[in-house]
Amino acid sequence: MSGFPKAPSQSTYKIGLAGCGKMGSAMLRAWLSAKIVSHIHTLDPNGLPADLLTESKITHHSNDHSFLEAAPSLDMLVIAIKPQTLGTFCLSIRDHLHSKLCILSIAAGQTIQGYQSRFGGMQPIIRAMPNLPASIGKGMTVACASETVLPERLQCAHDLLSSFGLVEWTSDESTLDAVTAVSGSGPAYVFLLIEALAEAGVKAGLEKDLAMTLAKQTVIGSAALAESTPRMTPTQLRDDVTSPNGTTAAALAVLMKDGKFQELFDKAIAAATARSKELSN
Ligand SMILES: NC(=O)c1ccc[n+]([C@@H]2O[C@H](COP(=O)([O-])OP(=O)(O)OC[C@H]3O[C@@H](n4cnc5c(N)ncnc54)[C@H](OP(=O)(O)O)[C@@H]3O)[C@@H](O)[C@H]2O)c1
Repeated sequence: MSGFPKAPSQSTYKIGLAGCGKMGSAMLRAWLSAKIVSHIHTLDPNGLPADLLTESKITHHSNDHSFLEAAPSLDMLVIAIKPQTLGTFCLSIRDHLHSKLCILSIAAGQTIQGYQSRFGGMQPIIRAMPNLPASIGKGMTVACASETVLPERLQCAHDLLSSFGLVEWTSDESTLDAVTAVSGSGPAYVFLLIEALAEAGVKAGLEKDLAMTLAKQTVIGSAALAESTPRMTPTQLRDDVTSPNGTTAAALAVLMKDGKFQELFDKAIAAATARSKELSN
């Protein structure tokens, strides 16, 4: 999207990270391994995961007060805590933030306007929706920034987010509900596909462990194939493995009959989009 960063820079950043759970610690590992941070101040009542305890670039804080002492020198404050505990956190830091500190939030359903009504309308806010494959560097993130975010902070956010996968920027924050439904929640649909394929294999006579291995490896191999052949659309890839009147054609005739498969997905994505909108209110 024009105006947004497209490539990583060579800069290193001083980052504050509130919340070092599943997503927070996955991001931490990615930043360290991409060597894009000079120092990270972390805050989490549960401490840090064991593998990060001896990392010299991390200073862990167990309370908001000492964490906020570092805030004036930060390039970015990243919020990776659950939406349920976010209100209390924002309240505790509100009076200690300087108005130019850029906040990057990955909390589901928390809007830019919501943050600005907590911190003040000029606070630079970036809202991003990553997904769980970020934990292995294969994430998909869509991000949106308030007009008060300076270009160098956009670049900083792009560098941080692209260290764990692909990043797309949007200027239309309302699309983040659909993004949450498609890529944020998407890994769960793929896991369901693995479960359903394995279960159907068992019903067709396969031993349970073998059926699961076949289902998992088929999804892994197909995703890798789609990634390694970017010029081919999924429809072309599907056509390639579907001989007329063959076994794949027989299965697809069932799955795609009367557009039911698409209809089911349309309904599922609409439900997740609606739920994301509800959570934002
Ligand atoms: N997991 C995903 O796939 C995913 C994908 C996209 C976006 N997100 C978003 O990422 C955020 C984090 O999700 P998660 O799955 O990583 O959750 P998580 O594993 O529960 O991690 C959140 C961590 O933040 C800590 N915390 C709570 N209050 C805090 C405070 N005031 N200051 C500092 N730390 C605090 C929590 O401690 P306690 O456990 O003691 O509360 C926990 O260790 C959520 O907002 C979620 O919407 C998650």
